[in-house]
Amino acid sequence: MQHCCSTASKKPIVLTGDRPTGPLHLGHYVGSLRTRLSLQENYRQFILIADLQALTDNAENPGKVTQSVLEVAMDYLAVGVDPAKTSMCIQSQIPELTELSMYLLNLVTVARLERNPTVKEEIRQRGFERNIPAGFLAYPVSQAADITAFRARYVPVGEDQLPMIEQTNEIVRRFNHICGAEVLVEAEPILAKVSRLPGIDGKAKMSKSLGNVILLSADPDEIHRAVEQMYTDPGHLHVSDPGKVEGNVVFTYLDAFEENTSLVDELKAHYRRGGLGDRALKQMLEARLQELLAPIRERRRQLVQDREQLLDILRAGTENARETAASTLADVRRALGLNYFSNKQSRAFPVK
Ligand code: TRP
Repeated sequence: MQHCCSTASKKPIVLTGDRPTGPLHLGHYVGSLRTRLSLQENYRQFILIADLQALTDNAENPGKVTQSVLEVAMDYLAVGVDPAKTSMCIQSQIPELTELSMYLLNLVTVARLERNPTVKEEIRQRGFERNIPAGFLAYPVSQAADITAFRARYVPVGEDQLPMIEQTNEIVRRFNHICGAEVLVEAEPILAKVSRLPGIDGKAKMSKSLGNVILLSADPDEIHRAVEQMYTDPGHLHVSDPGKVEGNVVFTYLDAFEENTSLVDELKAHYRRGGLGDRALKQMLEARLQELLAPIRERRRQLVQDREQLLDILRAGTENARETAASTLADVRRALGLNYFSNKQSRAFPVK
């Protein structure tokens, strides 16, 4: 098999993405944003604002998607994603991704799409039953196009996204087999350590629709109230009672946000023994969260005021991304013989 890769960059490429459907929250911070901050130091990183994917289950409400694009971009910059190191880009503005999706769709059966466990679960949650939008069922293929167009070697994800990468790699192998060349590259997931942060009610993962979130843009008062409402151990009635650490959201959050792990261990032991009250414990967590979110909120406030700068950053990131995707698509078209008008000899019209 011959190698063909026209984008020669020393650093391996990492791609992550989010569906823009609202501002980001602490769950995103723990599950993916934090990882992106460290990855941008050693990898060539792209972050895709996947508005086309968001439309696959928000077709009736495009405004919700389009209005969230800038919100999400602001959240990225506010937490410290550096546009000099990371290209932030908007999916719909990279037509190469859509084009590649069309080629890849032919390599996947409807039955295979219906077997994707994440898609299955989403269909159940959204109550689509048999009225599944075709675009929704096929979004894993569009995601495979995202991953392969960027030639991503690594994709940092939560567990729910593992089936997407598996499906991407199946498609890559089929495509390369058909072309007889390594045109597309397989990707590997990077799993976040704490990939799921429970909501403040402790019931499910943090999600805006469940009303159990702490937004990255939360003000000090909102943070205070959220911590106050946080689920602890309902059996822990008096300060002197022994309390449960497992399932106690305050401890889950301390595990996620308090870097001083020996302090957290001591607190856990103290709580289990009895003598550590919920109020004192919550004060510690609140102080940590206020400290974390204050600079993020401040940077976000500045960005809100400078919309032009924000748009410039997104435009530049999208242009970079498009260049990479276009180079992959040139290889893909050549491999399929779809380069009819190119100077180089096309497979379809061999020059005698
Ligand atoms: N499916 C991802 C999510 O729901 C978003 C996404 C779209 C993505 N394209 C991607 C993630 C490419 C990683 C790589 O969060």
